Order: sequence, then C-alpha cells, then structure tokens
Amino acid sequence: MSRPPPTFATARLVARIPSAEDAPAVFAAYANDPEVTRYLAWRAYDRVEPLAAFLREAAANWEKRDAQLPLAWLLCHKGTNTPIGSIGVTLEGNGRAMFGYVLAKKFWGRGMAAEALTHLVDWALAQPSLYRAYAYCDVENTTSARVMEKAGMVREGLLRRWHVAPTLGPEPRDCLVCAKVR
Ligand SMILES: CC(C)(COP(=O)(O)OP(=O)(O)OC[C@H]1O[C@@H](n2cnc3c(N)ncnc32)[C@H](O)[C@@H]1OP(=O)(O)O)[C@@H](O)C(=O)NCCC(=O)NCCS
Repeated sequence: MSRPPPTFATARLVARIPSAEDAPAVFAAYANDPEVTRYLAWRAYDRVEPLAAFLREAAANWEKRDAQLPLAWLLCHKGTNTPIGSIGVTLEGNGRAMFGYVLAKKFWGRGMAAEALTHLVDWALAQPSLYRAYAYCDVENTTSARVMEKAGMVREGLLRRWHVAPTLGPEPRDCLVCAKVR
C-alpha cells in the first residue's frame, strides 16, 4: 500500500503533519467556529486542550503501521507555518482513498480547498494500489460538493441517512458521494 507524503506543496499552500503545539492556532483559526463545523462529524471545540489531544493522535497516526488510519495535514499559506485549514485521507483498502477537508472561514471562496484536494486526488490516482479517490458531504453543503467537482470527482449518488453532524442534531443526514476513478 502506498504511503501519502508527509508534506506537499501547491501553488499557494504547504501541507504538513500536525502537532499538539498547533492547537492554539488551529483553535483560533477554525476549530472553535460552529459555522465551520456545521456539516462536520465533530462539534466546534470550546477549549484548546481536547483539540491538542486530537492533534497529538493525528500526528501519532503517521507513525503507526496500520495503513487504514486517517492521515491529516495542516494547510498553511506558502512561506508561513500558521495553519488555515486541514485536509485528510483514509486509505481504506480495496483501492480506495477517502478525503475530507476544512478551511478557516476567512479563507473561503478562494479555491484553496480544491487546490489541496486536486493535488491529493492526483497523487492518489498515480499510485498503483489506488483506483478510487472519493469524498462525501452533507446534501446541503453545496460548497463542498463544488470543491469535489473542481477536484475532478463526479457525483455518484445520494447516501441516505449516512452521516451525523452533531452541530445540526443527533440524526444521520443524507450525503452526496463523489469520486474520481482510474
Ligand atoms: C467546504 C470548504 C472547504 C470549501 O472551501 P473553499 O476553498 O472556500 O471552496 P472554493 O473557494 O473552491 O468554493 C467552492 C464554491 O463555494 C461557493 N463559494 C464561493 N465563495 C464562497 C463563500 N465566501 N462562502 C461560501 N461559499 C462560497 C462557490 O460556489 C464556489 O464555487 P466556484 O469556485 O465554482 O464559484 C469550506 O467552505 C469549509 O471549510 N467549509 C466548512 C467545512 C466543510 O464543510 N468541509 C467539507 C466537509 S465534506
């Protein structure tokens, strides 16, 4: 199984492995913002400590041998080390790579999520062991659906009652699934 690169760069961004020390900056940039987490699987953090624990775990995943653990990068503007978002991939086996991404609200609308996602989708589909790059988003998250489309993914269908977004309530919600395959 291919291992994703620990760092990568695009035209405007650099991506790197997170660390617990990033917690205050990630908290301030986006992780404490319920508008950002509206459709996500996690609620906005109200304290830095649990976020630091999450980031420590995210960093540790890069060291483990289990190829199917989620791997996350922090996204920074080129030339800075300050996180403005995150992107992640899970190599699920069976040739599949599943992606997720988030950006601080201040940086929405500049095509940056698509820039990072396109880079990783291209990486994934260049690996001999990977055939399918995909993501899903809440059916109401039209911005995210557009990001997937801009990264070359094609809408495949509606996953009914697929995903709980705790900010919106306890019930699983319908999601769109999009993929690029080779
Ligand atoms: C989803 C998200 C990562 C999109 O990132 P982005 O870099 O802002 O996306 P883009 O700039 O490519 O914009 C995508 C589309 O959103 C719309 N859009 C543009 N500006 C926008 C703004 N300020 N606010 C909301 N939507 C906007 C446009 O339709 C745009 O498509 P276009 O480029 O064809 O015009 C970002 O909105 C985000 O972090 N949301 C919260 C977390 C989340 O929902 N993640 C996805 C989970 S599946």
